[in-house]
Amino acid sequence: MSKVLILKSSILGGYSQSAVLIDHLASHWENQGAAITVRDLGGKDVLPMVDGEIASGLRGGAELSARQQEMLALSDTLVAELKANDTLVIAAPMYNFTIPTQLKNWIDFIARVGVTFTYTETGPKGLVEGKRAVLVTTRGGAHKDGPTDHVVPYLKTVLAFIGITNVEVVYAEALNMGPEAHDKGMSEAKHSIDQLKA
Ligand SMILES: Cc1cc2nc3c(=O)[nH]c(=O)nc-3n(C[C@H](O)[C@H](O)[C@H](O)COP(=O)(O)O)c2cc1C
Repeated sequence: MSKVLILKSSILGGYSQSAVLIDHLASHWENQGAAITVRDLGGKDVLPMVDGEIASGLRGGAELSARQQEMLALSDTLVAELKANDTLVIAAPMYNFTIPTQLKNWIDFIARVGVTFTYTETGPKGLVEGKRAVLVTTRGGAHKDGPTDHVVPYLKTVLAFIGITNVEVVYAEALNMGPEAHDKGMSEAKHSIDQLKA
């Protein structure tokens, strides 16, 4: 049975287009027998913003403050959840040309030297191996493969850095460019999702 971790990251609640697509993917894959865990980073599972105190605490050490210990435990939980699943699905709306702050916070919590990546004599090496990732990216305009898309290239860089290079992308573009473009963007994305196996 395929184990899937889904990260939602929209801040738009009931208006979220990526949530519609992610829910479509989740029910499609549940029908195929996948076990799905959902973390709603833009909603009920929002994470604290990583600041200097948290960042230094995530490197470990003997004299951590109570807050640092709590944040290290949270990071350990997020990393364990990532490693326990076979597939990572990331909802990645485009906000001001890149990913939501709430999703960036998750990355700041799980990118840990010695835990999810390490440095070798030949450069960085990811420690989260053997995983597959699916990105579902919604955007108001059209950016695919262009210089204004700082969502997909960025996420591919981060995922490769921690060891995930098997990445598929579902695009829902031009969603704010009128009702026709919206419906076309959503139905093409749903069609792409329907082709994906859990
Ligand atoms: C804060 C904010 C910033 C946005 N910035 C962009 C942008 O830079 N480019 C773009 O094409 N659409 C932009 N949009 C439109 C969203 O990409 C679009 O509404 C998309 O559906 C968001 O996904 P969601 O509904 O799951 O949150 C922005 C929307 C918000 C709320």
